[in-house]
Amino acid sequence: MALKIIDYGTPEYYQMIKLREDILRKPLGLEFSPEELEKEKDNLLMVACEDDKMLGCCMLVQEGANTVRLRQMAVLNDLQGKGIGRALMQFSENLARDRGFKTITMHARKGSVGFYEKMGYIRNGEEFEEITIPHYVMEKQL
Ligand SMILES: CC(C)(COP(=O)(O)OP(=O)(O)OC[C@H]1O[C@@H](n2cnc3c(N)ncnc32)[C@H](O)[C@@H]1OP(=O)(O)O)[C@@H](O)C(=O)NCCC(=O)NCCS
Repeated sequence: MALKIIDYGTPEYYQMIKLREDILRKPLGLEFSPEELEKEKDNLLMVACEDDKMLGCCMLVQEGANTVRLRQMAVLNDLQGKGIGRALMQFSENLARDRGFKTITMHARKGSVGFYEKMGYIRNGEEFEEITIPHYVMEKQL
């Protein structure tokens, strides 16, 4: 498996959107708007691949001088639980650290809080609703 950064607007980026739609949006009856995707051009986009197949992805968005926000973490349904999510987290944390960030924050879906806790993230604050489902803010100091 290869972990890599991809560029906005490339064929790999559209492959990533398809993966995110399949795993994160369609199950909720939602899709991405062009305005939402337009904002991604400055983000750090990361994927896990095996040959031409995209297995998982996530992205980092700068939130301040020292903080980045992790978004859009998704692994193909039939490959979950095999360590791909962990590898993507380690890859993105190393990139964030290399770029001088001190904190990673995120809006974690309630169902994935246990995964992020295993990665060393801590819940911060009360449950809230986003894209129709419960979330928590979670954070980790790098
Ligand atoms: C959440 C997700 C990204 C995790 O990726 P993954 O590749 O399945 O996770 P890994 O196999 O690397 O798991 C690492 C550890 O976390 C645990 N884990 C994985 N998903 C978990 C979950 N939802 N709840 C609790 N623990 C979980 C694994 O059992 C494993 O534990 P171990 O080290 O003790 O064996 C993936 O399951 C996914 O895409 N889910 C659907 C989309 C989603 O909810 N994304 C997150 C949006 S905030």
